[in-house]
Amino acid sequence: MSFSFSWYGHACFGLVIDGKKILVDPFLSDNPTASVTSDDVEADYLLISHGHSDHIGDSVAIAKRTKATVISNFEIASWFQNQGVEAHGQHIGGGFEHPFGYLKLTQALHGSALPDGSNGGNPVGFLLTVRDGNKVYLACDTGLFGDMRLIGEEGVALAVLPIGDNFTMGPDDALRAVKLIQADHVIPVHFNTWDLIAQDPNAWAKRVELETDSNAHVLEPGQTFSLD
Ligand code: NI
Ligand code: MN
Repeated sequence: MSFSFSWYGHACFGLVIDGKKILVDPFLSDNPTASVTSDDVEADYLLISHGHSDHIGDSVAIAKRTKATVISNFEIASWFQNQGVEAHGQHIGGGFEHPFGYLKLTQALHGSALPDGSNGGNPVGFLLTVRDGNKVYLACDTGLFGDMRLIGEEGVALAVLPIGDNFTMGPDDALRAVKLIQADHVIPVHFNTWDLIAQDPNAWAKRVELETDSNAHVLEPGQTFSLD
């Protein structure tokens, strides 16, 4: 199995799993920190965590250009289907064996209204089991919740957590999340896109290293972390 995680700024990232390209929450055109453009990014699948514009982003245009299949909650999947995009709807607690691995939707404490005011259902995170059993937890936009412990009980190799505060967990709660999940590796996202969510990711990473057994990896937009 080969697995890589590339951060494209804000909460947009690309996973490559055994050659399959999975793009998550592609907010690029209006993202001041984006390291790829909507016209260039490649995708076989798009994962959409919730309906907010900083996550839906350029996804309709990217899905139409790349013919990628959108995977999201049922409401958002239907919203894409109504625009002529191929989509696969799931829901919280439900998993499905996709060609890139077994993907389960997890709860997230957040909102999910779509940019046009449509009902985006409940926001979600993703727990992805890749073929050799390694698990990757993408918390996506959420506040801290105690059942992160249950997700951690599955044995998580990599957890991707928001630390920006204001809209999601801030650094303190994200550190508590690390203690609940006990992943081997953690990567912070959803910070420094705007002043409103300005944070020092290196200070956070230092606290992770001092107070937990997890390894924190601070990426710059455009950088890649690989699991082997
Ligand atoms: Ni949001
Ligand atoms: Mn967001």
